[in-house]
Amino acid sequence: MKHLVVACFCLLSLLQDPPAGTPFTGRWVVRTDNGDGTFRQTVFALDQRGSKLTGRVINPTNEQPIVDGNVMGDNASFAVVTGRPPNERRVEYQATRQEISLAIRVTRPGQSLQLLTAMRGPATAGDAPARIDPPALHRVPDNGLARTPPMGWNSWNHFRGRVDEATVRSIADAMVSTGMKAAGYTYVNIDDTWEAGRDASGAILTNRKFPDMKALADYVHGKGLKLGIYSSPGPHTCAGYEGSYGHEVQDARTYAAWGIDYLKYDWCGAGRIYKDEEMQAVYQKMGDALRESGRDIVYSLCQYGRNNVWIWGPQVGGNLWRTTGDIGDSWESMTRIGFGQDALAPHAGPGHWNDPDMLEIGNGGMTATEYRTHMSLWAMLAAPLLAGNDLRSMSPETVAILTNREVIAIDQDPLGKQGHRLRADGAIEVWARPLASGAQAVALFNRGQSPARISVRWSELGMQSAHTVRDVWTGRDVRGAGEEYSADVEPHGVALLRIDR
Ligand code: GLA
Repeated sequence: MKHLVVACFCLLSLLQDPPAGTPFTGRWVVRTDNGDGTFRQTVFALDQRGSKLTGRVINPTNEQPIVDGNVMGDNASFAVVTGRPPNERRVEYQATRQEISLAIRVTRPGQSLQLLTAMRGPATAGDAPARIDPPALHRVPDNGLARTPPMGWNSWNHFRGRVDEATVRSIADAMVSTGMKAAGYTYVNIDDTWEAGRDASGAILTNRKFPDMKALADYVHGKGLKLGIYSSPGPHTCAGYEGSYGHEVQDARTYAAWGIDYLKYDWCGAGRIYKDEEMQAVYQKMGDALRESGRDIVYSLCQYGRNNVWIWGPQVGGNLWRTTGDIGDSWESMTRIGFGQDALAPHAGPGHWNDPDMLEIGNGGMTATEYRTHMSLWAMLAAPLLAGNDLRSMSPETVAILTNREVIAIDQDPLGKQGHRLRADGAIEVWARPLASGAQAVALFNRGQSPARISVRWSELGMQSAHTVRDVWTGRDVRGAGEEYSADVEPHGVALLRIDR
């Protein structure tokens, strides 16, 4: 009886199913021009059964199942849900059959309507390449680099996809002329969107924005600076550009031949092939490749602090690893990240650093007071100092924040011990960091909206008394009387101190 019902049901649905060539069924490809000779591809893998539409929307770095898909004649509506809880958002699509294409209207919450044209593609369009099993684990030897946290600049926070060779050259010029280089900033790092495809031999190509990477490296080296680049262990980077998947050794050799000194290696597209638990082996592959390239290349892991990277980061040859998702140029984002790093302190040390993401100082979303807090917090965290602003148009105040020698000296302290929270009380936080000289850096943070008087007792620092207390932002030596030191700290501000025994 049961079989009969199933058979009847199947027959019924077969009869109801439109014949092959169902209007919406198939792979529909949207090619978006990146403006640099490359295209970003989105594939709509649709399956129409009568008035029901199912399938997936496939982007270079992820794919989402279609929910609520319906067809009415030449029109279809469907949606996908992107993001992880609690930050999911629903993206709505309205597709209309044209003669040989689909016209698709995309509605994203808070964004203007987007119009796309999708053409029929091959049955495999958008499929991830075949899986390459990751290697067995071993320990990649320490490359001896980054004995103190790397300092430099990175294109992403300010320029995103608008970075090109001329910009990087002028940033290198500005790094010297503004005094950033003299203050210790060395790496000029190109983030995502420099890549094109590969040539017939599989060698990675640069797109129109970067006509000659070797010449650019020579230029940057000529200024006494170093050049960094970006890739992904996946087939595609976060912005949908070519990744290093299956070409790790070849890419590391290309970077070395160009004269690259730093690689940021960003998980993104690898998530379509590997599980988070496989990250160590996947990152090890490039760690080995960089070592075998014969060039000193700082290895920066970017996988947003997933899978306890601080435990295995050094074993894959990593010199730094991101501990969080992307920073934004806001007080909320910066403090959520910065004040959330306390538990990771034991994992930082010479050659291998926690990376709470690049600096937003000078990008305009925070006040000067808040940017001083940002710089102070990153210095207390022994964080890499990668400026993320436009170095060619900095206000004197921004320059002063980024180049304060005494703050940088705390960040770059050779002992390499990351600071930790001594005490938090409401909006008040007191952090301490031991320094190589036996002194301590102490930060009195006021996260609140009103001025606060904040104290630190010598006993809390394991000190009997203090010899000198140096306020590194005001540049004044201030004596602490009696048992403690107190400072009036403005809202969202900090008193950053170096306390000598
Ligand atoms: C990710 C990274 C960012 C940046 C972008 C580039 O979001 O976390 O730092 O590299 O990718 O696409």
